[in-house]
Amino acid sequence: MDLGLKGKSVIVTGGGSNIGRAIVLGFAGEGANITIGDIEVAQAQRVAEAARKAGAGDVQVIETDVTKLDQVQRMVKAAVKKYGTVDVLVNNVGWDQTMFFTKTTPEFWDRVIQINYMGVLNCTKTILDVFMEKGKGAIVSISSDASRQGEPREAVYGGIKAAVNSFMKTIAKENGRNGVRCNAVCPGVTIPEENEEVGKNSMWVNKDTMFTPEQLEKVKKALPLRKIGRPKDIANAVLFLASDNVAGHVTGQVLSVSGGYSMVG
Ligand SMILES: NC(=O)c1ccc[n+]([C@@H]2O[C@H](COP(=O)([O-])OP(=O)(O)OC[C@H]3O[C@@H](n4cnc5c(N)ncnc54)[C@H](O)[C@@H]3O)[C@@H](O)[C@H]2O)c1
Repeated sequence: MDLGLKGKSVIVTGGGSNIGRAIVLGFAGEGANITIGDIEVAQAQRVAEAARKAGAGDVQVIETDVTKLDQVQRMVKAAVKKYGTVDVLVNNVGWDQTMFFTKTTPEFWDRVIQINYMGVLNCTKTILDVFMEKGKGAIVSISSDASRQGEPREAVYGGIKAAVNSFMKTIAKENGRNGVRCNAVCPGVTIPEENEEVGKNSMWVNKDTMFTPEQLEKVKKALPLRKIGRPKDIANAVLFLASDNVAGHVTGQVLSVSGGYSMVG
């Protein structure tokens, strides 16, 4: 099936690590021109190199902290300058450390809110200027299954990812008339298998601080599909939602890719 993504200009934030890396490689396989906006340039450059080998039209890395509006504006400007426009924005950056809410601090809440929500607002606001002018565009935001039903040890993160889902729906309603589609993908636990799949800023840089091997076994047993997610599983859903050819009539949706952890009717 032709997704029609060849030659499209795609921005992937946090494309240097784990899920973002798989998303970049997925678009690369479709022949897209990719701008990776990541705070960690060296790791993003390694992914860019892999993306070139995987068939990307072209790839550039722009050092970007998504919590800073001026840096996001610079990233979008660079994409437009190099590839003439932007067709797809993937809001992938996210961050958390798992712990019970009673152990968290206001500094931690602020960091979770800045990275997971302010980053999405900054990128969406900036890209809408481009999309509205041309009357077309797709946004896919990476949320989390923690947003859908409450998740112990992910209280602030789950709450703010629920805000991302709601924000995507509102933006979809406000901008459908401008040809803009917006959707969210909710991964469940999705782990890198190899060290080179993550950067030093990744929340998975020390896997055991997120889930001990025993906890991962428990997660696996609780899932209907009895397996932990891989980054490519999420990338496939993102490619689908980014493609006007196959998802041109899909907007305002929240799609779980989590082995059946959440089933929302
Ligand atoms: N991996 C999971 O189990 C899982 C589950 C549910 C949801 N998610 C969501 O999926 C997305 C990707 O998760 P991941 O596991 O690949 O994360 P990760 O921590 O491995 O990678 C995050 C990437 O974002 C970059 N980054 C961090 N802060 C940044 C900032 N302020 N500006 C720009 N770049 C920044 C990092 O350098 C890294 O390349 C996130 O939104 C996360 O919340 C992940």
